[in-house]
Amino acid sequence: MRTEQPKTIYLKDYQVPEYLIDETSLTFELYEDHSLVHAQLVMRRNPEAGPGLPLLVLNGQNMELLSLRLDDRDLTAADYLLSPSELTVQPDSASFTLDSTVRIHPETNTALEGLYKSGTMFCTQCEAEGFRKITYYLDRPDVMSSFTTTVSADKQRYPVLLSNGNPIASGDGDNGRHWATWQDPFKKPAYLFALVAGDLWCVEDTFTTMSAREVALRIYVEPENIDKCQHAMDSLKKSMRWDEEVYGREYDLDIFMIVAVNDFNMGAMENKGLNIFNSSAVLAKAETATDAAHQRIEGILAHEYFHNWSGNRVTCRDWFQLSLKEGFTVFRDAEFSADMNSRTVKRIEDVAYLRTHQFAEDAGPMAHPVRPDSYMEISNFYTLTVYEKGAEVLRMIHTLLGAEAFRKGSDLYFERHDGQAVTCDDFIKAMEDASGVDLTQFKRWYSQAGTPRLDVREAYDAAAQTYTLTFKQSCPATPGQPEKQPFVIPVELGLLNAQGVELPLRLQGEAEALGTSRVLSLTEAEQSFTFVDIAEQPLPSLLRGFSAPVKLSFPYSRDQLMFLMQHDSDGFNRWEAGQQLAVQILQELIAQHQAGKALELDQRLIAALRTVLENDQLDQAMVAEMLSLPGEAYLAEISEVADVEAIHAAREFARKQIAAELFEPLWARYQENRAISRERAYVAEAAEFARRALQNIALSYLMESGKDEVLAACLEQFEQTDNMTERLHAMAVLVNSPFEAEKAASLAKFAEHFKDNPLVMDQWFSVQAGSPLPGGLARVQQLMQHPAFNLKNPNKVRALIGAFANQNLINFHAADGSGYRFLADQVIALDGFNPQIAARQLAPLTRWRKYDATRQALIQGELKRILASGELSADVYEVVSKSLN
Ligand code: ARG
Ligand code: ZN
Repeated sequence: MRTEQPKTIYLKDYQVPEYLIDETSLTFELYEDHSLVHAQLVMRRNPEAGPGLPLLVLNGQNMELLSLRLDDRDLTAADYLLSPSELTVQPDSASFTLDSTVRIHPETNTALEGLYKSGTMFCTQCEAEGFRKITYYLDRPDVMSSFTTTVSADKQRYPVLLSNGNPIASGDGDNGRHWATWQDPFKKPAYLFALVAGDLWCVEDTFTTMSAREVALRIYVEPENIDKCQHAMDSLKKSMRWDEEVYGREYDLDIFMIVAVNDFNMGAMENKGLNIFNSSAVLAKAETATDAAHQRIEGILAHEYFHNWSGNRVTCRDWFQLSLKEGFTVFRDAEFSADMNSRTVKRIEDVAYLRTHQFAEDAGPMAHPVRPDSYMEISNFYTLTVYEKGAEVLRMIHTLLGAEAFRKGSDLYFERHDGQAVTCDDFIKAMEDASGVDLTQFKRWYSQAGTPRLDVREAYDAAAQTYTLTFKQSCPATPGQPEKQPFVIPVELGLLNAQGVELPLRLQGEAEALGTSRVLSLTEAEQSFTFVDIAEQPLPSLLRGFSAPVKLSFPYSRDQLMFLMQHDSDGFNRWEAGQQLAVQILQELIAQHQAGKALELDQRLIAALRTVLENDQLDQAMVAEMLSLPGEAYLAEISEVADVEAIHAAREFARKQIAAELFEPLWARYQENRAISRERAYVAEAAEFARRALQNIALSYLMESGKDEVLAACLEQFEQTDNMTERLHAMAVLVNSPFEAEKAASLAKFAEHFKDNPLVMDQWFSVQAGSPLPGGLARVQQLMQHPAFNLKNPNKVRALIGAFANQNLINFHAADGSGYRFLADQVIALDGFNPQIAARQLAPLTRWRKYDATRQALIQGELKRILASGELSADVYEVVSKSLN
């Protein structure tokens, strides 16, 4: 058991830094068995911190201090205090220069934080607190400095030497070494520092900015991946243009570089001028990456690029403000993707993801506000709440203010705070000042955790021709927050008459109607709105576009939902009506299964899907989305007690019925699209994504029929295609089918063909890890022995262990607890060398309150076993101990 508890850090304890660093000059000497880091810090007392010269406390971990100098005085051990995490020195004047040399070991850094090696390449990951593993420093985002960085390394092994900013000098050294110096003129916190040294090739392009400056664009990859960079480059250029057009933001350096790295704890990192990306977030070509991967790459490229303003030019004062840059930047990248592809489909995907995963986080032991009040380990707070819910909060501000005032607000924010480290309150203040809208109450979205519930009731008065909607909001208690105050909830809505026509919306007291779709802003626990001139009982379309991240309930009948599915002018709500219809019907099947009755599917689901399938006016991506039943994880999230067996049985039963009853239209849609796919070369664009999405979902239903002609079609698609979207889906469908021989053959063929491409092998692992067929755990354990698997590589961990625990509920929640035991074993093993990845894998175990008493006890037992397993990282300790509370 851990002897010393990690300390909790509180937002309320924030204090400005005692000292500032104006200039940072770094020299790295990279060797195979160690590296040396020389740092020269030009420092001064922070005038805002008060008088006197307090002790200077620098952060620093896992390093060996070789020398320390204060101005021109060499310090000896008697002059400073050294602990495992800090170096303390007494300055003797208000301005001084501190020189240090440390030895570090990137070659054995398995935590992938700080300076480390991925394959043969040196790279860094500093956010949030990795820079303190590189040199002694004030490693906090409100200390901003200019950086000059010299890197020296063996020329043959590491021909490319990169850091932030512009290259200013380079040359050859002794013993086959060379060096390069980079200078970043923009002051930045240490978390945005980056360094790369390796044998890399690059794809080059240029971008001409709005003020006609030419920027060099480079994507660096290992030589074998040079053919997989074009999509990322195209996405980068689109992002640069979009940020100019939509936010008026121009790029500021002469060069923008991206490096793809195979071993990376997250998706990507926005280091100034030198973004470092997980190779899975850069590399794509038709043969190796699916449509989903192409879209994800476009979104991540945009996200990291947009951080240059929302994050780098204006950064966070402290890590409690993380959503200031992340929520805003996710909102920005979501709008970018919506503009590049189908807006409605993007919204559907994001909402489905939020409701499945963020709502679960909000309902669990790690629930925290968008701006947390405390943490033990900041790495644990790169969460769905900070990112995705944070983006929803920004979207609500956009909805409440309107696009124009929002843009004025963002302009004011960037102008007012350029070069500063600020807070979420500063952002809100800029929005308020630019718009004149008071957001005081709105700010509760930043401080209160939990997903609000919104119960809506209607009352129609035929005599008075009025229609009243009454909204009641509430929010469940979350850890440390028993009571909640009402939120500001923007509800966009419309009213439909019996013909499906939308009615003009005039509220009591208003002179005239204001359109047929409008936003009501709820501010009270209970509030009513009365519409006048309503000649007949209408049907409300509520929370259009998912205008607030809440759980809305309205007593819709199934027939009303079918009506909305067909007539609502809001595409998102047409989909939502279909989902609610499916939820109601699946919940009925779940109840039948639990009662031991024969399952009987409400035929209205079939009728509704038939209408969708036969509607050739509908965007094919919408047809595909509407054909997708709510996922098992979502059905679990909305259950009081999640019965994974019943959920799985109900959903499978519904899928089989749909396949049987709609075989003809599904087959027609499949063949029509497959024929086009056969003729056309792969293109990564929205209309083609849509077409292939429909083709593929049709194929998964069709395979439920077990018919020979479908098997033949599936094998043909697997073999005869130029792209991974069709091939992988055909293989996934086979893997989940009873055709054992074909399954084995396709898996073997695929692995043989792609064995040297780790990103493709990740997909091969995931497809198998996610298969709900019996024996899932044994398959995963066997795959861990496969030569392409490696526990040290985060992508592999996510592809196999993560996919099993998160996307294979029926196997992971096996009644004997074997899935839980397996995951706990992996967490313990991972914590020994990569705490961030270990803590991430814990998420499914934190959700134990959702399950029956037996499973609860089994999961708690595993959490306790982890806690007792030895010295844990702060990362794992925080998640496990909070989960057991
Ligand atoms: N700032 C990066 C991004 O969202 C992610 C950094 C994640 N850091 C972490 N410790 N998990 O683009
Ligand atoms: Zn980000």
